[in-house]
Amino acid sequence: MSKVKHSAFKYDFLGSDPKDIQRSVSNHLVYTIGKDPYTATDHDWMMAFSHVIRDRLIERWMETQRNFYRHDAKRVYYLSMEFLIGRSLINSLLNMDIHNACTEALHKLGIELERLRNLEHDAALGNGGLGRLAACFLDSIASLNIPGYGYGIRFEYGMFRQKIENGCQVELPENWLIHDNPWEFPRPEVSYRIRFGGRVMEYQDTTGRRHFDWIEGDVVIAQAYDTPIPGYKNDTVNNLRLWSAKAYEDFDLNRFNEGEYTEAVVGKTLSENISKVLYPNDSSTMNKRLRLKQQYFFVCASLKDILRRFFTDHDSLSDLPDKVAIQLNDTHPAIAIPEMMRLLMDKHHLEWQPAWEITTRVFSYTNHTLLPEALETWPVDIFEQLLPRHLQLIMEINRRFLLMLGHLHPGDMDILRRLSIIDEGNGRRIRMAHLAIIGSHKVNGVSALHSELLRNSTFKDFNSFYPGKIINITNGITPRRWLYQSNRGLSTLISDAIGPEWIRDLSQIKQLESLAEDSAFQERFCAVKQANKQRLAKLILYYLDSKVDSNMLFDVQVKRIHEYKRQLLNLFRAIALYNRLLDNPNANHVPRTILFGGKAAPGYTMAKLIIRLINDVADVIDNDPAVSDRLKILFIPNYDVTTASDIIPAAELSQQISTAGMEASGTGNMKLALNGALTMGTMDGANVEMHENIGADNIFIFGLTTEDITRLNRQGYQPRRYYDSDPVLKRVIDMIANGFFSPEEPTRYRLITDSLLNNDHFKVIADFKSYLEVSDRADQVYLNTAEWNRRAILNTARMGYFSSDRTIQEYAEKIWHVKPIR
Ligand code: IMP
Repeated sequence: MSKVKHSAFKYDFLGSDPKDIQRSVSNHLVYTIGKDPYTATDHDWMMAFSHVIRDRLIERWMETQRNFYRHDAKRVYYLSMEFLIGRSLINSLLNMDIHNACTEALHKLGIELERLRNLEHDAALGNGGLGRLAACFLDSIASLNIPGYGYGIRFEYGMFRQKIENGCQVELPENWLIHDNPWEFPRPEVSYRIRFGGRVMEYQDTTGRRHFDWIEGDVVIAQAYDTPIPGYKNDTVNNLRLWSAKAYEDFDLNRFNEGEYTEAVVGKTLSENISKVLYPNDSSTMNKRLRLKQQYFFVCASLKDILRRFFTDHDSLSDLPDKVAIQLNDTHPAIAIPEMMRLLMDKHHLEWQPAWEITTRVFSYTNHTLLPEALETWPVDIFEQLLPRHLQLIMEINRRFLLMLGHLHPGDMDILRRLSIIDEGNGRRIRMAHLAIIGSHKVNGVSALHSELLRNSTFKDFNSFYPGKIINITNGITPRRWLYQSNRGLSTLISDAIGPEWIRDLSQIKQLESLAEDSAFQERFCAVKQANKQRLAKLILYYLDSKVDSNMLFDVQVKRIHEYKRQLLNLFRAIALYNRLLDNPNANHVPRTILFGGKAAPGYTMAKLIIRLINDVADVIDNDPAVSDRLKILFIPNYDVTTASDIIPAAELSQQISTAGMEASGTGNMKLALNGALTMGTMDGANVEMHENIGADNIFIFGLTTEDITRLNRQGYQPRRYYDSDPVLKRVIDMIANGFFSPEEPTRYRLITDSLLNNDHFKVIADFKSYLEVSDRADQVYLNTAEWNRRAILNTARMGYFSSDRTIQEYAEKIWHVKPIR
């Protein structure tokens, strides 16, 4: 397009007052959707309106991108398998500050914004914490004017939809793109060839230097789709680029000519399978070839794109670390390290040393887990088949690393074995975390405790070898989505009290502290909570046909279902409370609804059994008129970003009760506390720092600490001794084991009770007593409404530290060395 006259190219910036918006909606209904008001459905209006917002996003997007070029900005690239964005409509118009104008414009057309809002599908390209963190980070990066890009996969099927049938989880495919996605721009011209398999060819150039070239194999095309990410009221719009797999050639023509039409089409489908579906597992790994293909697919396309952008204005690769920072969200994209080496050496003909220097200065890696089953390893032979050149490079990276390590620890074979990228003990596997640590200049944990455990235990030897490399950056959440958008009542109350600056700078929310004792403010705070509870109760009645009394205490545990998160411990407490109500109907019990929500990985038998038990217990209690007006258990199906935004503002108690040392950070804990829920929690993940910030009096901490657990394990933990000596606990376990909640199949839950009594790896039994005690303490406070409200206000007021803006500022300063572009 060299003949295009840039000076002649002009376009109109769109107005954002109600009249402009009203006109734009009408235009889009006619010209984009092809409907008029006589035939338009709600969905048509929603699409027309989304295009109005999209127009206003794209003009800011272009301006922002051009500005990055004008400033020759250093960019940060956030590589993540998952981005759990949720809905975009309200987020976009609030961040662009056109919410009121839009409400008014739609109202004039006789349309309620709220109705359109509920028609939007969640973009659910993630499992849970890790993916939602990536989404919060994108919001903060844009809100801080940082030149940043997300890179990931445009999965055709996102996280499955969860249905509960007869108490059991059923997974339904989430084909979210069927509904048209107004938030993405396909970029067919931005596409790259991605190779799999083949072989490595070695050759010598005229100077005698050896080179390697990866040839043959199968090729798939990665095509870009861009989603604009608006910052909060700053006109910055960043880019999330997701890759979709397309067949290299639509048909294998040779086969087609031979009459094998079906085989030819199957080949096309196979290559396009790569971006078909998100693996629905949040904390264990699967050695599926397709998963490794997904990882390499998006990493390879992203690096090619990053280098293409770099070469627009630069020609020396030695400048790369000054212009590019790449953050690896967990080890899923760690293959980027050998891929960068391949590009620098095989394509750009750098020698090993300068290539390695550039690579390590560009990359940094975030660790998200201490669970051994979640630390990724790949069998060497899968690599050999799919990525032969990368295997060579990994072996060479490892050889050089072990050589250095050997110099430092002569004769110590054990340390070489422990730190090697190759695990020789398990049928030869590649430890992706070791590759990521060796190939990065910084590694970070996601809470103070987690980083401490990384340094002193999981990666202790690495920490000695690379002092200062492993740092902590505590996670955060975006106050825009998790308070400003999802809790409009509280948000307005806060802005009325201290002004709206907290939305941009959450540390300002501290000013609420002075109002914690103010009884008028307490009442308003409490009224907002009550309204949120009523709203949630209405939704539950409408969608689940279940009655919840909004005068009860709302006690909430929403997160993935996992043994270490201990939904079982919460359920044990519920059963103990049930027994108390039966035994002592006239005592002063706090009436409560215990809400559970969360998905189980489809192959995780124990987690699915826990969901079923929750539903069985809920049923028995619901059908027991002696207690049902004072205790209710409810499992809310299909927990996702949108349900989270409905539940969290209504929560009063937040259950954050993982086994100490197992939850890296948690972010649900932050969302709930920010919305004024008091936490019942263990000293785990970011709970530790919440305890520090919120103050010991305003959080209910209980249970074993990491040190206690180490000691207990050393002594030999015997869960049966607790069972024998605690009649309350014994009764709970016996009821489950003997089929009280499953009379039609009394042994249904033996897998659970046997595993607890014989092993109890997650210390449910050991923590039960102190959990019940702290629950009673919480109830005592709840009976004193003013005191509860005071503490709830202090929770909200003291969550300033947990903004993802603070988190991103730390990444920008300590790791990326990128500056805002205004
Ligand atoms: P990308 O950085 O190549 O992905 O392009 C993103 C957007 O940045 C484009 O759509 C343009 O609006 C803008 N852009 C791309 N190249 C240039 C350039 O060389 N100068 C100024 N703006 C550019």
